[in-house]
Amino acid sequence: MSQLVWLITGCSSGFGELLVHHILSRGDLAIATGRKLDKIKHLERAGAAALELDVTHSQQEINDTVAKAIAIYGRVDVVVNNAAYVSMGGWEDIGYDQILAQFDTNVFGSIKVTRAILPHLRERRSGTMVFISSLSGWHGHSFVGAYAGSKFALEGLVESLSRETEAFGLKTLLIEPGRFRTKLLSPGNLQVMQSNIADYAEASQTHVNGLAQEDQAQPGDTQKAVKIIVDLVRKEGCAAGKEVPLRFPLGADCFSTIKEKCEETLNLLEEWKDVINSTDHDNDTTWG
Ligand SMILES: NC(=O)c1ccc[n+]([C@@H]2O[C@H](COP(=O)([O-])OP(=O)(O)OC[C@H]3O[C@@H](n4cnc5c(N)ncnc54)[C@H](OP(=O)(O)O)[C@@H]3O)[C@@H](O)[C@H]2O)c1
Repeated sequence: MSQLVWLITGCSSGFGELLVHHILSRGDLAIATGRKLDKIKHLERAGAAALELDVTHSQQEINDTVAKAIAIYGRVDVVVNNAAYVSMGGWEDIGYDQILAQFDTNVFGSIKVTRAILPHLRERRSGTMVFISSLSGWHGHSFVGAYAGSKFALEGLVESLSRETEAFGLKTLLIEPGRFRTKLLSPGNLQVMQSNIADYAEASQTHVNGLAQEDQAQPGDTQKAVKIIVDLVRKEGCAAGKEVPLRFPLGADCFSTIKEKCEETLNLLEEWKDVINSTDHDNDTTWG
């Protein structure tokens, strides 16, 4: 595969930062973006181009930044929607504004960036759109409903996008990491709302403590993950000669949880088959 130009959001740490380093090490070109240019200067020194991009800004501002990105190397081949954060808080505690803010970054940010680049990819009949989703796009853990909701929303939006654009030769990829060692759960990035309601207080505190203990102790090696992501896009290494699926879980925790959910779903369909299939109009010939 020839040299690719990548545009990545949220490159100040974690997946985004390591992706940029790995992309450069594979001989591709990277346009790193971040909310604050000074937090991605080190990536510029490593050989990436750098642009300021806050995914919560207006569609027009994001269009302008994406136009600048395309102008740097004359094209963009791969866009990685990576920027996100976790807002923690139970249903009865988390504020409407916090839920909106969670979706603004994790969902609407990806929509705006993708809508900005899509005409360019469609016109060229070539390109890959990568979305960093999550195990939380399959499984809603307690006290992180806003985050899980944002990733479930992303999964549905992106599944439709994939179907709408595959005819133009565009590839769409939803990466679903389990628990990886990045700054996602670090103080400053993780937004925590503890419960003020006695009934939830203990469970909420247990989850807050659990996430604090997990910070920098997650089992997933982010270096290994970014290599696989680049392999999937370039169809090299683990993806050489293979058809790359739309959804790609990463991590042993992801494997077991998704398998369990699929098996549970198949069992439920089988067990309730007669009821589920019983709701059509009687003697209806509308569909022949
Ligand atoms: N690590 C995991 O266990 C895990 C698991 C499943 C999914 N993920 C997903 O992986 C992706 C990357 O997260 P990470 O684990 O690498 O965490 P991270 O180290 O906290 O990185 C998150 C990045 O998103 C950026 N960001 C946040 N809000 C932004 C905004 N409005 N505009 C632009 N950038 C913004 C942050 O920039 P600032 O420095 O400016 O805040 C940071 O660069 C996310 O989509 C996350 O949901 C991670």
